[in-house]
Amino acid sequence: MRTGFAGKKVLVGVTGSIAAFKVAGWVSTLAKAEAQVSVVMTESACRFVTPLTFAALSGNQVHRELFDPGGEERMDHIALGRDADLVLIAPATAATIARLANGLADDLLSTAVLAARVPIIICPAMNSRMYLHPATQENIGRLKKFGYQVLTPGEGMMACREEGTGRLPEWEEVSEYLLRALTPQDLLGERVVVTAGPTREALDPARFLSNRSSGKMGYALARTAFRRGAQVQLVSGPVSLPVPPGIDCKFVTTAREMREATLGRSDWATIIVKSAAVSDFRPAFEQAEKVKKETAPRSVELAENPDILAELGKSKKKGQLLVGFAAESANLEGEGRRKLEKKNLDLIAVNSITSETTGFAADTNQILLLDRHGAEQLPLADKEQVADMIWDRAAVMIKSRSEEPGKQEIQACRQ
Ligand code: CTP
Repeated sequence: MRTGFAGKKVLVGVTGSIAAFKVAGWVSTLAKAEAQVSVVMTESACRFVTPLTFAALSGNQVHRELFDPGGEERMDHIALGRDADLVLIAPATAATIARLANGLADDLLSTAVLAARVPIIICPAMNSRMYLHPATQENIGRLKKFGYQVLTPGEGMMACREEGTGRLPEWEEVSEYLLRALTPQDLLGERVVVTAGPTREALDPARFLSNRSSGKMGYALARTAFRRGAQVQLVSGPVSLPVPPGIDCKFVTTAREMREATLGRSDWATIIVKSAAVSDFRPAFEQAEKVKKETAPRSVELAENPDILAELGKSKKKGQLLVGFAAESANLEGEGRRKLEKKNLDLIAVNSITSETTGFAADTNQILLLDRHGAEQLPLADKEQVADMIWDRAAVMIKSRSEEPGKQEIQACRQ
């Protein structure tokens, strides 16, 4: 399943804040991603950025007037909201938030929003005193009750030279919420735990044993599960990737810390995906002081780490879906099937670590997906697409299980 902005009709409402200039960049990005972008500007928005800017960047004429004779031939005040796949209001001022919270229809944007029956995403941007005022907070509460998605503004220095909460959220976050709103919600109601990245096992304060995992596959799985409607908790080893928006992330270092964090979340989870590359061994003794060359032992005694996935397999709840990973250099299907059985998994994603396009740090991956009934070779694709293919399979498995006898127990796991 491919998700994205291509071909989607996005209505962008721009209101009167200095942050409007940032949204010009967002409109450009959406248009380049082949979304069909229509822009409505309020009168005060036009004082900050000219309509010509948004027209040039979106490739479409900007809508401004409720009683524009040309626009009203097309019934713009209804059609703009009705025909969109998604409405984004950014920046949203306190005045616009108040107007929408009270259902006013006194300008083109507020009227179009009242007529819309599609996801509405609001990005407030204002001085923090205005944002934190009970009136604004109450209005935001009302918008949430209507089912609108109101993002939390960022913190930092604002245009008024005051520090606080009120900055326009960043595009990286906003775009995830837009994609979520445009993606079929086949994981809605699922509670997903994803583990990602390597673990590190200290030899001394300066050195550790670890592996080449970048965390990219696990982070892609977390991000795509969120887009498909799941609540996601990520347990991550040390990686240099930003935490995906909307996802709760617990950072760990060692295998034993990862075990504690993952088992601690397993009762909550309806799906657990163990894409982390856990160190099988750790140094039997961690030296408190840095080991010196002259006195360093020439070999290191190792202790075995717990196999987290095997433990999860033993304590698996009825209806819970357990997905493992295996990075192999030979006999992919045989090794995958052995681990599937041994660790009591429902699905295992096996990939070869010998190719440059499927290795640890690569942006692409090629997976052999095994379950109890068979094997499917997925095509080489970027890790986000591969993650979506894994979720496609997981979603089918959950759906078919809920149609099997004993489905009450399976549903009970999802309460
Ligand atoms: N795994 C785990 N805990 C470990 C080792 C592995 O939870 N101590 C999980 C990994 O997250 C992965 C799966 O087990 O989902 C398979 O990992 P892999 O290293 O391929 O398997 P091992 O069982 O360690 O087998 P081997 O290293 O012998 O191939």
